[in-house]
Amino acid sequence: MNRPCPKWLENAVFYEIYPQSFCDSNGDGIGDLQGIIEKLDYIKDLGCNAIWMNPCFLSPFQDAGYDVADFYRIAPRYGTNDDAKKLFAEAAKRGIKVCLDLVAGHTSIEHEWFKQSCKPEHNKYSNWYVWTNSIWDAGDWTGRFVGGYAQRDGQYLNNFFYCQPALNYGFANPDPNKPWQLPMDHPDCLAVRQELKNIIKFWLDMGATGFRVDMAKSLIKNDPDSAVVAKLWNEVREWLDADYPEAVLISEWGDPVIAIPAGFHIDFLFQLHVGYNSLFRYERDQFCNPTPENHSFFRKEGKGDITLFLDQYMNYYRKTKDKGYVSLISGNHDIGRCSQGCDSEDLKLIFAFLLTMPGVPFIYYGDEIGMRYLSGLPSKEGGFHRTGARTPMQWSAEANAGFSTADPSKLYLPVDPSPDAPNVADQQGKPDSLLETVRALIKLRKDNPALCADGEFSPVYWEPNGYPFVFLRTLNGERMLVAFNPSGKPAEVEFQITGSGFKNELMMGKGAHIAESSGKIKLKMDGVSYGVFKL
Ligand code: GLC
Ligand code: CA
Repeated sequence: MNRPCPKWLENAVFYEIYPQSFCDSNGDGIGDLQGIIEKLDYIKDLGCNAIWMNPCFLSPFQDAGYDVADFYRIAPRYGTNDDAKKLFAEAAKRGIKVCLDLVAGHTSIEHEWFKQSCKPEHNKYSNWYVWTNSIWDAGDWTGRFVGGYAQRDGQYLNNFFYCQPALNYGFANPDPNKPWQLPMDHPDCLAVRQELKNIIKFWLDMGATGFRVDMAKSLIKNDPDSAVVAKLWNEVREWLDADYPEAVLISEWGDPVIAIPAGFHIDFLFQLHVGYNSLFRYERDQFCNPTPENHSFFRKEGKGDITLFLDQYMNYYRKTKDKGYVSLISGNHDIGRCSQGCDSEDLKLIFAFLLTMPGVPFIYYGDEIGMRYLSGLPSKEGGFHRTGARTPMQWSAEANAGFSTADPSKLYLPVDPSPDAPNVADQQGKPDSLLETVRALIKLRKDNPALCADGEFSPVYWEPNGYPFVFLRTLNGERMLVAFNPSGKPAEVEFQITGSGFKNELMMGKGAHIAESSGKIKLKMDGVSYGVFKL
């Protein structure tokens, strides 16, 4: 099925905000919506035209807000629903779309629906969650069940932590011997589905533009090929296309080949993929433990292998092209910081790569200044190893890095204590800084449609375990050649590109030289260099 994506995605660059840690406007030590409003000009000047904000709804924060207690209410620590409305309006004035985080698969144990569902007496919400029929029945389906939590005689299925009970959208193949496995067209499962739509409608009507959908494939249980959950999301997409054509759905799925036909506009190539990790995260696993046998491509040591990325990416790219977008991320709230293991020169190459690839790039707050992962922090709100990538944004060298006026002991998380911790104020206006480089790269992307989401992508030079990596982006006759040599060693290569009359104009980069002779392009690259050329 070919469904058009909203036009605005073509040159979208997202900025992910972890609201706890972005900007504290009232000095209580925790970021808030008013703080985000105050920093909208920063986001706009950076060139980002869309925001993905992690969950900001009422929650006991046992998983940083991914445990929602009321989907219709902003958590008081962030402000009020009116502040959200103001945020959407102020962002819109600056041409910025705001996407929220839709935790569709589960709620908090503190949610009123779950409290009702826990009751032994049958009520409207009894089937809104997945319960076995007896406290001694542990389900024996591959899910994780919790027993003994409530008065109700049964165990509930959780979706992530124990405190995140799975909402009941039904089972794709209910086991007839387990009557508690309801079919997806059971009226109670349909009621949950309707509620999901109500939530979406509520925030879109208030001014949000879309949602990043948490654990998007988890909704239907026992659905091995995801065919049934795909039907569910397609139904949502059809409704959005008709009623909210600007709205976008971004999945945390990790398989664009399934997620995009399932109705999502965007899915990620991210930490679940070797192809992503091998770019600049390969020396550490998801839990930030060293894995010295692995080597990233974007490293001076020059031991990476770009084919690990290309094999996976090209498969997704070819199968989803013209239907939706594969997104690459600088980072997110679930993994380490991209700055781990690199200096600011390496980081410039990484951003040049992220911002010249097709699809819709996502920048995690603070990555644009090279914020560091703070290791050794005690887990905060279910963060565990993720906590070190969730520390307050570093705005300046002032107290608390300009994040908050609170006493440092009151901060949500400590700010990076190192004397050379990067910050926005130091980098702003310095052309050589990472921040200004990222800004210039975003501008370059937007000024050259071939570099945006829809420009055709074709690798022109690559080899297993070798450098450089060169690709072409083309759109409506515009041709951009992009070359990377992250290795510390210089590289020289020759290749052919069809066409003629090349201008070979360097648009951005350093240490990359291009020459043309007898129809061949000769590329000479210093160690740690890149170039974006207009052909
Ligand atoms: C997603 C979120 C993560 C959260 C989990 C459970 O993976 O990105 O932060 O803990 O879902 O909702
Ligand atoms: Ca605050």
